[in-house]
Amino acid sequence: MAPTKVIIAGCGIAGPVLGIFLRLKGYDPVIYERSAEPTTLGLSLCLQPNGLRVINLIPGLLEKVIGQDLDAFAMYSVLPGDEGTIVWSDLPSTLRDLYGYSMKGVRRPVFHRTLVEHAQNHGIKIVWGHQLVSVDQHADSVQVGFTNGAKDTASFVVGCDGLHSNTRICLFGEENADYTGLTQTGGVSPKPDFLKARHPMTDLFGDGSHMIYYQVNDSQVSWAFTRKEAEAKETWRHMDEHVQQEFREHGPCSTWGFGAKELVETAEHIVKYGLYDRPELKAWHKGRVALLGDAAHPTSPHLGQGANQAFEDIYHFIRLLVKHNPSAAGPSTDVLQAVFSEYETIRIPRTSALVQGARKRGDDRVLQGAEERKKRNELIKEHWNDESTIAEPYRQLFTQPFVGESEI
Ligand SMILES: Cc1cc2nc3c(=O)[nH]c(=O)nc-3n(C[C@H](O)[C@H](O)[C@H](O)COP(=O)(O)OP(=O)(O)OC[C@H]3O[C@@H](n4cnc5c(N)ncnc54)[C@H](O)[C@@H]3O)c2cc1C
Ligand SMILES: *[C@@H]1O[C@H](CO)[C@@H](O)[C@H](O)[C@H]1NC(C)=O
Repeated sequence: MAPTKVIIAGCGIAGPVLGIFLRLKGYDPVIYERSAEPTTLGLSLCLQPNGLRVINLIPGLLEKVIGQDLDAFAMYSVLPGDEGTIVWSDLPSTLRDLYGYSMKGVRRPVFHRTLVEHAQNHGIKIVWGHQLVSVDQHADSVQVGFTNGAKDTASFVVGCDGLHSNTRICLFGEENADYTGLTQTGGVSPKPDFLKARHPMTDLFGDGSHMIYYQVNDSQVSWAFTRKEAEAKETWRHMDEHVQQEFREHGPCSTWGFGAKELVETAEHIVKYGLYDRPELKAWHKGRVALLGDAAHPTSPHLGQGANQAFEDIYHFIRLLVKHNPSAAGPSTDVLQAVFSEYETIRIPRTSALVQGARKRGDDRVLQGAEERKKRNELIKEHWNDESTIAEPYRQLFTQPFVGESEI
């Protein structure tokens, strides 16, 4: 009997990883991607122990990931008259011993290409230049349609099509993404002298503004400057050349210390994008179609959990699919209902809490006014100086999602 065909919409970060797991469990996944080819756009992602643990369940993949293990958290105030260290913590250097994995900075297009190649090496078909626009459910199958008129049919469909998911619109109707009120301006630059031999995840706090930076390979640092601003679209395209030059020379971080000025001056390209999330959905599926990753729970980036939560989704999705459909034969709608509803019962509360947490972290980072900032910086200091307040949330973040042994 031919293996059960599954259509995945979207070959971003989640799509190829889900495809590989489905293949390993005996299904026949086909991935349809809107872009004509793998994108070179985007800056960086921070893979954390919970996400890396899922990646490592795929034989031979983690070894291929090019990135930089981070070994500290550094937080500085960059305000004139109040410059200096708020916190230096070596916690990230202990994560590998505690949870088996560290935090790893990666360049998004480099990581993306590694995932795509690994999926192709598993024989998974990726069809580029196909934007899903319709979903027709039948008793034992789903037919999807694309803007170019093409159609295809499979046993079930998983929408991994990101923030502007059409799969989500097909299931639950159109609704605008929520603009968080914050933009990021960012780039990738050579490692500044300031970093020397250390590899910290660094936060710089200004007045109503914030910069984060971390290494994404042995010689490159990705940075992003956050502020409150009028809405900017999420396109990941470079800013106009003269606007980039203005930002390098006279932008708000051109006077900042702790490596910031150098990073901005030497960036290859500077990108600006708005930060968006969406309200919680009551369900992530209808019939034979389910959502996963940003399509289900897009988040602002301030907890660095976007990609990691997509990997947790995949872990549970696959675990539950194997549990309810051990033969990998074409599942009935009842079997899929059991898989999808258990999946969303586990995943919706967890991802909603993190989406809200990221919103709050973002707002805290762009506080304005001397008193508010001082209070915030004191709270950060207190929090980080008390071992007991940091250990437990990290333990929960990194270990809570997994059921017994992490095998699936
Ligand atoms: C070009 C790009 C650059 C990014 N850069 C960063 C970054 O620098 N930092 C960061 O924190 N996050 C970035 N993100 C978002 C980040 O990848 C996700 O938040 C996270 O990794 C979850 O992955 P995902 O697969 O759910 O979504 P995504 O990685 O966004 O992948 C969704 C994929 O679906 C495709 N797609 C969309 N609509 C359709 C459709 N109708 N039919 C078929 N395919 C469709 C998209 O082209 C994309 O490839 C970027 C996303 C994109 C698309
Ligand atoms: C780090 O990134 C730079 C720029 O993309 C690249 O030239 C260099 O080869 C990379 N290093 C590794 C080890 O991949």
